[in-house]
Amino acid sequence: MDKGWERQRIFDLLTKYYQKNISDVNGGLVPGKDYLPAAGKCLDQDDLIALVDASLDLWLTGGRFSREFESTFSAFMQQRYCLLVNSGSSANLLAFATLTSPLLKDRKICPGDEVITVAAGFPTTVNPIVQHGAIPVFVDVELSTYQIDVSYLQPALSSKTKAVMIAHTLGNPANLQALSDFCKQHHLWLIEDCCDAVGAKYNGKMVGTFGDIATTSFYPAHHMTMGEGGAVLTSDPLLKKAALSLRDWGRDCFCETGVDGTCKNRFGQKIADLPFGYDHKYTYSHIGYNLKVTDMQAALGVSQLKKLPAFIEKRNANFNYLYGKLQKINERQGAECLHLPQAQANATPSWFGFPITVNSGNDKKVDRNRMVQFLEESKIGTRLLFGGNLLRQPLYKEIPKRVLGALPVSDYIMNNTFWVGIFPALDKQHLDYVVQKIEEVFL
Ligand SMILES: Cc1ncc(COP(=O)(O)O)c(C=O)c1O
Repeated sequence: MDKGWERQRIFDLLTKYYQKNISDVNGGLVPGKDYLPAAGKCLDQDDLIALVDASLDLWLTGGRFSREFESTFSAFMQQRYCLLVNSGSSANLLAFATLTSPLLKDRKICPGDEVITVAAGFPTTVNPIVQHGAIPVFVDVELSTYQIDVSYLQPALSSKTKAVMIAHTLGNPANLQALSDFCKQHHLWLIEDCCDAVGAKYNGKMVGTFGDIATTSFYPAHHMTMGEGGAVLTSDPLLKKAALSLRDWGRDCFCETGVDGTCKNRFGQKIADLPFGYDHKYTYSHIGYNLKVTDMQAALGVSQLKKLPAFIEKRNANFNYLYGKLQKINERQGAECLHLPQAQANATPSWFGFPITVNSGNDKKVDRNRMVQFLEESKIGTRLLFGGNLLRQPLYKEIPKRVLGALPVSDYIMNNTFWVGIFPALDKQHLDYVVQKIEEVFL
């Protein structure tokens, strides 16, 4: 029986429900009265319908929406393959684990191998290196872009170096030309954490396509959301094969969820010490995880993806508006009280937040902590640049690592940088209020 009309009735009711009860969840924030968050999700009635549509299937695990999302998102990111996972952190874990796969033979990353990375960023860009027994080699970042300072790549290189793993922090692409040249020259893997940077481009190409494997996050703060979610992207069939196995319990079988016998030889193989004909579905060629998403998450992703280009455009427009206004504060103060972010020459950022570094030498004696406290008291959400200098965090002191120099810029960022929101629900009136309050601190 065609249940299409019943679904449609449910969707019509959802539309009414949304319009009556939810529609102004993010809209209509009044500056000074409502708290302006630094980040937030932008959901509409289509997102609500997508979630219920997937629920009505009662399929629950990865299914039609996951397939649709993986194929549409890989095209958007200019990659051949996309594997959905349950968070950006899981995506980083899976991307790194993929590069330890025995399928990669002598190129696989082994315990004790070194991976060049930075300390000014989000912990789960670095954690998979540690979790796999590899040694992170920390280099400093640039204050102008907040990205890896590529002049340290060569000095960081050793005979043990196997990879570079970096994030395009806050949506501002790192120097991908230098990074990919360096990695190619020394046969290193390049892992691009694009969790903050979906839609950012370098030399006109999507970030994530310069390295071997890339990751994204769909946590509500990010460019689009699934509630929780993430993706691993690659164009390399061998990496995709390893990633799929590692994501799905380590199995050798590559059937879709709920499908059997894709290999057409389910009971006809002799693998390792298993008896001939042992079910391929229960044959494990990796020490794997289960990092998959539900189809409800994927359905929300499908719906959000349609709006992603508009979200990115609005974020960038908000960034540019704020940039112009904050520049004016520096002009009026007659000094660079606020250090504003810059992009690489060939980069088109997809801004996630607006980073501001309070110049510690300003003669008004305004420091970052005073600024952040005042903004929060004024109902303006602020965030620090994630872990600041991760090496100052509890436990990171203890991990096996190599550090190139004293990381003075990472420390400077830890002490002086914060970021404010530019997510699509914010408009000029909100940003004007943010600017007004930032300037008040200097008066
Ligand atoms: C650069 C970066 N990598 C990874 C993550 C982790 O993503 P998730 O929160 O989905 O685990 C984040 C989170 O904000 C991030 O900013």
